[in-house]
Amino acid sequence: MNDKTAPQYSALAKIYAHLMRSIDYKDWAEYLLEIAAELDTEKFRALELAAGSGELSRLLSNKFADYVATDYSINMLKLINAPVKIVCCDMTSLPFKNKYNFIFSTFDSINYLLNKDKLKKLFAEVERCLDSPGIFTFDVSLEPNSIKHAKYLNRKGKVGKIRYIQKSYYDREEKIHYNNFEIIMEDGTKYYEEHRQRIYAMEEYLEAIDESGLYVENCFDAFTFDDVRNDSERAQFILKKKPC
Ligand SMILES: C[S@@+](CC[C@H](N)C(=O)[O-])C[C@H]1O[C@@H](n2cnc3c(N)ncnc32)[C@H](O)[C@@H]1O
Repeated sequence: MNDKTAPQYSALAKIYAHLMRSIDYKDWAEYLLEIAAELDTEKFRALELAAGSGELSRLLSNKFADYVATDYSINMLKLINAPVKIVCCDMTSLPFKNKYNFIFSTFDSINYLLNKDKLKKLFAEVERCLDSPGIFTFDVSLEPNSIKHAKYLNRKGKVGKIRYIQKSYYDREEKIHYNNFEIIMEDGTKYYEEHRQRIYAMEEYLEAIDESGLYVENCFDAFTFDDVRNDSERAQFILKKKPC
């Protein structure tokens, strides 16, 4: 989802927001707050990357003194209903001079970065915007998740008068998870959109982080505080700035 203005992009943003209704964002918000608590400060300045339709922005904004929600899709940002500052930008090119002490991204958004150069750009940009002390935390979807769940993402439905058919598959050779959408507008016009997410190996994240000014303080099996395992479906990274 980028910031194109053709009708299918605003339709797609609504479809995404609709699909994400089944997610337990309250638990997700609690988990993030537990991670943030390590900072032991009253003055949180939060920067949310790839905030989408802002489900977490709504649940978390009153917990943080300052809150900026970003995404590169203007159509997703238009759906945010929370008292936060909203900035449309790519997470690999952040337009901020201010520093934030809690930077985070959720729900596989990092997997949208399709090559390691993009990953490295992300870490460099976050390092530039991260205060010290400060935390950058994000989750990533791992191969066991794609292998196990791709078939459940073959589905169809309706959002208002827009119908959609989603087809999902994981290419083990390319390490790309595809989500293809057929969008049928009220007047019968059809649009096709392909979404690709790169399913990196853990080592690839670790290498890219190692080359940045950040280090991995912890890497959990997501939604827990246990170490990530080989069969984990999602990992939760906790990064901090390397000491100067
Ligand atoms: C699966 S949604 C997750 C949205 C939100 N974080 C949540 O948990 O509901 C992925 C989001 O990542 C955004 N995104 C993908 N690549 C991006 C990039 N390079 N920069 C900023 N946002 C990006 C998409 O527009 C989309 O809103």
